[in-house]
Amino acid sequence: MDERRTRKDQISYLCAMGKFTEQIKRRRTFGIISHPDAGKTTLTEKLLLFGGAIQVAGAVKSNKIKKTATSDFMEIEKQRGISVATSVMGFDYKGLKINILDTPGHKDFAEDTYRTLTAVDSAIVVIDVAKGVEEQTEKLVNVCKMRNTPIIVFINKLDREGKDGVDLLDEVESKLGINVCPLSWPIGMGQRFQGVYNIYEKNLVLFQAHGKQDSEESIKFNDLNNSELEDFIGEAAAKELREEVETVTSVYPEFDREEYIKGNLSPVFFGSAINNFGVRELLDCFVEIAPFPLPRITEERMVDPEEDKFAGFVFKIHANIDPRHRDRIAFLRVCSGKFQRNTNYLHVRQKKKMKFSNPTSFMAARKEVVEEAFPGDVVGLYDSGNFKIGDSVTEGEVLNFKGIPSFSPEIFRYVVNKDPMKTKQLNKGLSQLMDEGVAQLFTVQSTNRKIIGVVGALQFDVIKYRLQHEYSASVDYESVNLHKACWVKSEDEDAMKEFLLKRKRDLAKDTNDNYVFLAESSWALKLAQENHPEVEFLFTSDV
Ligand code: G4P
Repeated sequence: MDERRTRKDQISYLCAMGKFTEQIKRRRTFGIISHPDAGKTTLTEKLLLFGGAIQVAGAVKSNKIKKTATSDFMEIEKQRGISVATSVMGFDYKGLKINILDTPGHKDFAEDTYRTLTAVDSAIVVIDVAKGVEEQTEKLVNVCKMRNTPIIVFINKLDREGKDGVDLLDEVESKLGINVCPLSWPIGMGQRFQGVYNIYEKNLVLFQAHGKQDSEESIKFNDLNNSELEDFIGEAAAKELREEVETVTSVYPEFDREEYIKGNLSPVFFGSAINNFGVRELLDCFVEIAPFPLPRITEERMVDPEEDKFAGFVFKIHANIDPRHRDRIAFLRVCSGKFQRNTNYLHVRQKKKMKFSNPTSFMAARKEVVEEAFPGDVVGLYDSGNFKIGDSVTEGEVLNFKGIPSFSPEIFRYVVNKDPMKTKQLNKGLSQLMDEGVAQLFTVQSTNRKIIGVVGALQFDVIKYRLQHEYSASVDYESVNLHKACWVKSEDEDAMKEFLLKRKRDLAKDTNDNYVFLAESSWALKLAQENHPEVEFLFTSDV
C-alpha cells in the first residue's frame, strides 16, 4: 500500500513538473573536445562500445581529419562524407539516452567545433598526459567558458610516461582558467602504471598491462592507510599514492555538483582510452553528475525544455558533396517540447511554415527516420537551402536563440570572379556556403569588393572547390592586407555616425548587414579604439 502510494506520488510529482520531464531527465547531450591526437576518437569509440552502440573497435576511427592530410584536399572531402554519419552519436546507457556531438579535430574547422559546442549541455576535455594543455584545448575550453558549459577533464595515455599529476593539474588550472577537483588519481605511470584510485567512490581500480581491459576489477578501499594496500600495489607505490592523495585532497576542493553544473568546478579523471582503462569510471560519473537539458536563452525570453511547445535551433549545416544531390542536412537541437515528423512548424527567420517528412536521428553510425524527438536530441533535417546557422524553428512563436557566435576570422582574401557569365551562380554559391558557416563574407563599403574571412586557411580550398563543383562558378583569390575584422556598435548614435563617416574606407558589411571594421594591423585597431572610445569593437558576433 505504502509503496504504491510512493509510486503514485512520484508520478504526480513528475506530472506536475511537466509532460516531458521523464524524457528530459533521461538525456545527456555533450561534446568531447581535445587538441588533435590527445585521444578524442579513441575515447568516443570506447564510450560507444560501453553503450553497445558499436560492437567492434575501429568503427569510428575516421571521424577526424588526420594531421598528415592537411594539404590533401580530396582526403578531406572523403572524410567530410564520413563525418555526416558521425556528427551525432546517440546510445543508451543505464536507462539514459546519451548524445555525443562530434567536433572536428582539425584546427581549420575550429569554427564548426565552436558552433557545435553551443548545442551541448556539457563537455569532456581530453588531455594527453605527456603534452599537457595544448593550443586547441585552450581555444575550445574558452568557448565552453563563454556559455558556462560544465566540463569534465580526462587525462589520457597514462600507460605512457608523462607530466607529474600535480604539475598537470596546476597547468590545467592556470592555462585553462578553470578550478579542478581530481576524482581519481593515478598509481604510477608509463611502465609503472598500476591503475587509479577512485577518490570519489573510494576504490582501487587495477590496470592489467597490455590486457584488453573489458572488465575492470575494482576493490573497495575506504581507508588508504589500510596495510592491505601494499599487497595490491607494492610498498613504494602505496607510499607514493598515500602521500599524493593526501596532498591533492587537502589542496583541491571537494566535488560539489552545483559548482560543476554552474561551470565553476571541473572534476578530473585519469586513464588510458586505448586500453579502455578509466573510461567506465568516467562514464559512470558522467551519467550521474552531467546536466540534463537546461533552459536556453532567446532574444525574447528564457525557453524551458519542459514547455509543451516545440522550439529548436540549427547549429550546423552539412552539405552533400555529391553535386547530383544538392540537398544539405541541417542539424537542429531540440530545446523545448516535442518535435514531431510531418508537423507544421515556423521557420522564424523566413516567416514561413515548414513540414519535415524525413527527419533523421543518429544512433552511432546508423541513421533512421524519427517520429519524435525531445529536448537534448538532435535531428537532421533535409534542406534545399532554406536554413542558415542559428535559425530557429518553433510551433509558431517568434523566438531567436542566442549565443551562436561567429568568431572574428583570422585570415582574409579578396574573391575574384573568374567567369563573369557565372556571377549569379557565384553569388548563390557564396551565399549558401556562408549560410553553412564555412567562412564569413564581408563587402567593403567603399569599393563593393568581397572579402572572405576564415579561421583556418584550408577553408579557401574548400570554398574554391565547392563553388566549382556544386555551383559551376570559378574564383581566384587575391591577397589583402588585413589583421582583424571586428564588429562595431555603439549606444551613442552620434559617435557611431562620426565613426562610420571617418572610417568609411575601413568599413565592410557582413551577410547580416552588420558593420565590420577592417583593421590592417593591431596598431591600427588600437588606434581606432583609442580615437573612438564610445564605439565597441567586438571579436564575436551572435548571428
Ligand atoms: P584524436 O581523435 O584526439 O585526434 O586522437 P585519437 O583518438 O585518434 O588518438 C591519437 C593517437 O593516440 C592514436 O594513435 C591512438 O591510438 C593513440 N592513443 C589514444 N589513447 C591512447 C592511450 O590511452 N595510450 C596510448 N599510448 N595511446 C593512445 P595513432 O598511432 O596516431 O593512430 P592509430 O594508428 O593507433 O589509429
